[in-house]
Amino acid sequence: MTKSASQDEMLALLDWFQAMGADVAVDETSRDWLSRGPIPPGANYAWPGRDDVAHVPAASPATRQSPHPSRQEGVLRPRATTPLGASEAETGARRIARDVSSLEGLEAALQAFDGCGLKSTATKLCFYRGAPQADLMIIGEAPGRDEDLAGKPFVGRAGRLLDKMLGAIGLGEANVHITNIVYWRPPGNRTPTPQEALACRPFLERQIELVAPKILIAVGGAAAKELFGVTEGIMRLRGKWREVTVGDRTIAAMATLHPAYLLRTPAAKQLAWQDLLQIRSKL
Ligand code: URA
Repeated sequence: MTKSASQDEMLALLDWFQAMGADVAVDETSRDWLSRGPIPPGANYAWPGRDDVAHVPAASPATRQSPHPSRQEGVLRPRATTPLGASEAETGARRIARDVSSLEGLEAALQAFDGCGLKSTATKLCFYRGAPQADLMIIGEAPGRDEDLAGKPFVGRAGRLLDKMLGAIGLGEANVHITNIVYWRPPGNRTPTPQEALACRPFLERQIELVAPKILIAVGGAAAKELFGVTEGIMRLRGKWREVTVGDRTIAAMATLHPAYLLRTPAAKQLAWQDLLQIRSKL
């Protein structure tokens, strides 16, 4: 015999959901994600180049001018297939990103991309905020709750501090391009896994090529590790210029402290200020 839950039990369950990071309702009706069986998110996605995939031909240069390039550019038709490993997801993403020739096309390709598991729990794609082409490109870790709802990176508390930091060296949305190493919010704001970052990486590299910045800034340890391919902590990485090669361009890059960390640790703002001054003089 089943006993219905009391109000206290329901509230305790709600508290537990919140503690686990489920802090937003994404649908009016609840879904039993386990009922679909052992099929992981992204399993029903087929990749270009695989034998079992049907392609829509890539766009001609003329049709690439369309405001909806994804409808022409390397569009894929999903078909049931076997689950993908991280490197297969990256290879597929690279094939898609390579054929995209504009930021609008890249956004549409990301909207159609099911190779990163984060998409299945996120509300919105968070592509970028700021100028489409900019000398300075800021790369953060991942969208949080506010970003997930707004569909834009760095719009919450940390984002407001980031804007103030940029404003202090005379920069704003008109001359900075802001994005993250993954384009969807990780559940409970956890750090993205290496597999999730790898699946998004080809899109990020194409984004860097299209934005064509003079300087790349990784904010926070996760973004710095992913961008530079290193394992050191942020305190060792920050404030030092290095070079990142994307396509045929080598770009000056630096890591700095994440504004969310600065909100928790105001004493570290002096280090971030030193980094900002270096960025200003490099620009
Ligand atoms: N933190 C990040 O790293 N990125 C965002 O977009 C928001 C918060």
